[in-house]
Amino acid sequence: MAEQLVAGGQPPKPGVPWMVRNALALDDFGVLAKPVLPRMIHGYIAGSVETGAALRAARDAYADWALVPRVLVDASGRQQRRTLLGEEFSSPFGIAPLGGAAIAAYRGDLMLASAARDMGVPMVMSAASLIRLEEVREAYPRAWFQAYLAGDFARIDPMVDRVAAAGFSTLVVTADTPVPGNRENNVRTGYSMPIKVTPRVALDCALHPLWLLGTLARTVQQHGMPHFENMDAERGPPMMSQDLVRNFGARDQLAWVHIEGIRKRWPGKLVVKGLLCVDDVRRAREAGADAAWLSSHGGRQLDHAVAPLRVLPEARAAFGRYPLLIDGGVRRGTDVLKALALGADFVFVGRPMVFAAALAGAPGVRHALGLLRDEVDRNMAMLGVRRLEEMTGDRVAAARAVR
Ligand code: FNR
Repeated sequence: MAEQLVAGGQPPKPGVPWMVRNALALDDFGVLAKPVLPRMIHGYIAGSVETGAALRAARDAYADWALVPRVLVDASGRQQRRTLLGEEFSSPFGIAPLGGAAIAAYRGDLMLASAARDMGVPMVMSAASLIRLEEVREAYPRAWFQAYLAGDFARIDPMVDRVAAAGFSTLVVTADTPVPGNRENNVRTGYSMPIKVTPRVALDCALHPLWLLGTLARTVQQHGMPHFENMDAERGPPMMSQDLVRNFGARDQLAWVHIEGIRKRWPGKLVVKGLLCVDDVRRAREAGADAAWLSSHGGRQLDHAVAPLRVLPEARAAFGRYPLLIDGGVRRGTDVLKALALGADFVFVGRPMVFAAALAGAPGVRHALGLLRDEVDRNMAMLGVRRLEEMTGDRVAAARAVR
């Protein structure tokens, strides 16, 4: 009984917004957001492609590994700071690029940025965003920018120059999106981009007044109809425009030669996101990227893509200290620590952060980041680890004996 009282989970901290008070772990945010968001918006965030195999694989890969604690080592004075690409952050995790954040949450990208700033972690602003990149960089000077680029230097160069002029330190080029993924769930729920206001969509919105008034109406009233602001150097089309489809064109022509060209033009740190093959990590390094980001895009691009965590040990073994980032299915402090033990320098989280922003803005995202930070700290103590550098390969073991 006494043990149950002591170990019975953490009560919500004071100051946590009531909308997210019952979120005790990252997976809770999506559950709490379900009744609040229109079905099509919730489905757009939570969803994946085709059979959902890539989504499940990314998550399940963490269950393949177990943690090996060491005891009686005096784990007091723990700290989880980590330096990445020359910058020190308070925790070894950050917010992945999340397109459409401002559709789900009022001023979503700014909410994510200011929470990341307050918690001292990186936030990567998505190209598929509805708030000008210059504004987000002003809110959080340490934010990074993620670009979706066509294989065409006439469009790449001005975009790179715009991101540099805004003062971003780090440019992430997403490489796994030559074409949009086959997200059947969006068709089923009525989500489309550009958004088509069919009777079904209108009813879905009307049935979710918190979102309709608190996000959509408030955004349109205070800032006008949202535009895709950061797909190219010039302002893109509005969220409800038939022209939008043009902007996806020529992404399938993007190739390593463009990464080499960007490397020559871009003065800051360069990261290539969406790699799942050790040989592509090698190409990224040869092309001059400062880091490689292992990702299956949260299971939203190629279905049955290999889990990023599966690729990680081989990539680490092949490339010594070359910075490796990873995302996909990271939901717990134990996941963060497993990824570090298997060779990741840093991990990123997607969906729970946008759900947290939709529920409670920046304070909601701070709560989500705080939960993960506390889990990492608690687990470090139980692992007998004071510094993240101690999360070496011997701290993980295969969870099941190989039969
Ligand atoms: C994404 N992701 C993504 N990636 C990217 O490079 N550019 C983008 O604009 C987006 N947009 C986006 C929107 C939404 C709603 C989601 C859920 C995801 C992928 C994202 O950066 C990351 O790779 C995955 O989300 C990580 O998986 P988890 O943490 O969501 O499981």
